[in-house]
Amino acid sequence: MYQVFDTVDEVSRYTAQRILDKITATPDAVLGFTTGSTMEPVYARLLQCLQQAPVDVSQLTTFNLDEYIGLSAEHAQSYNHYMCEHLFNQLNIPVQSVNLPDGLAKNIEDACQAYSDAIKVVGGLDLQLRGIGSNGHIGFNEPRTSFSSRTHVVQLAEQTRIDNGCFFTAQHEVPTHAITMGIQDILEAKEIILAATGRNKADIMAELFNSAMDEALPASALKQHHNLTIVLDREAANLLPRQAFEKQYPAPSASA
Ligand code: GLP
Repeated sequence: MYQVFDTVDEVSRYTAQRILDKITATPDAVLGFTTGSTMEPVYARLLQCLQQAPVDVSQLTTFNLDEYIGLSAEHAQSYNHYMCEHLFNQLNIPVQSVNLPDGLAKNIEDACQAYSDAIKVVGGLDLQLRGIGSNGHIGFNEPRTSFSSRTHVVQLAEQTRIDNGCFFTAQHEVPTHAITMGIQDILEAKEIILAATGRNKADIMAELFNSAMDEALPASALKQHHNLTIVLDREAANLLPRQAFEKQYPAPSASA
């Protein structure tokens, strides 16, 4: 199910509205959040909407997808810090309802198990927001991760470290390992939105469109999900056959 919009702004408005709709319909929803540059305008738009028309968020529970190993929550490039900066500092969600993998956990294996268990205890994720890496990773589930994986430690692919290097002052500062929710954890979400924008996502979106389900392409696991929306701007959809999205939706305006 594809939703293709002309601009990043429209992608962000649509995605933020879907999150708002979920919160309004289910005030105690369990939301799966993610990081990355794609999500920054989504969170900005969500906060803007909530400022204009406040909605009670105090009953929400959130789980983030992943975190670098070795970075404290205060580190400027940790995903914990990202989420506080872009969302949580301005949302009134009780701190005990906000969950992120702990990149400094003493016993990482136990922490991974506890993270997947905690998702199950609250009844699973109602809505999982997702981006995609240029190599098709979801969360930090790199190519060849088992589709039945639960929260686990990963060694980051070199391509991922290069892609994410721009957020660090030097390439060697990019951590080599991370904790990520597993693909099975993600697939058990009741609803998934995968958002991708920009020309640098066009190749992987075309590959995903053409690929069968294959562990070499982690995002292809999502193809078996019954409630998946893929939200793209024109640039990210640039290499998709037009009939992929125009069968279901009116053609976007020709202005792009
Ligand atoms: C990181 C995160 C992913 C995210 C990806 C895409 O690698 N671990 O969860 O989907 O970045 O990021 P961006 O939106 O910056 O392209």
